[in-house]
Amino acid sequence: MTVDAAPLSVVVLISGTGSNLQALIDASARRGYVVHAVISNRPQAAGLARAAEAGIATRVVDHTAFSDRDTFDAALAEAIDAYAPDLVVLAGFMRILTAGFVTRYAGRMINVHPSLLPQFQGLNTHRRALEAGVSEHGASVHYVTTELDGGPVIAQTRVAVEPADDDARLAARVLEREHILLPQVVEWFAEHRLAMREGQVWFDNTPLPQPLQC
Ligand code: GRF
Repeated sequence: MTVDAAPLSVVVLISGTGSNLQALIDASARRGYVVHAVISNRPQAAGLARAAEAGIATRVVDHTAFSDRDTFDAALAEAIDAYAPDLVVLAGFMRILTAGFVTRYAGRMINVHPSLLPQFQGLNTHRRALEAGVSEHGASVHYVTTELDGGPVIAQTRVAVEPADDDARLAARVLEREHILLPQVVEWFAEHRLAMREGQVWFDNTPLPQPLQC
């Protein structure tokens, strides 16, 4: 598979630690994409320092400064569009987005979610997985659609739940896998292997019967 001379341009949205952002930055050169900017809705997000350290432009669009979701999303879209990215990656971005915003980036916005979707949409996924007694847990990367954590799943990574697992232990193991999963999916975008058509994931011009496994 050949990669274009111009690497895929990516803008990453974060709210916190940014370990997935770090994984994306670290893998970017060898995987054929460039992280052009990092935008946070929280001024204190530790991921902003990671971006600055890597010489990547940062922006803060603080949601607390906006009276409603529509005006926040409009400001966020303006910040993103200044970089004209090919792909928007939500990496620990903890805001619910309006339908208008999601539609604007349809087919070119993805999210990493710490569960094997469609299981455990929403928050506290690791605790809920343990409470449900599942033997397998993991993470998913999916296209963002208007259904929260409900867009078509591109790829997943699986971890076995161990008897000694508590919330933190399981979360740490899943997070390690997320750091492999997310750069892999962005590489597939860089290689033009992914598309969303009629609400389905297409890979190598074929509809995916089930998520890819990483
Ligand atoms: C990850 O578990 C991600 O799946 C979830 O939030 C966490 C973000 O971690 N959406 P980090 O900020 O990338 O370290």
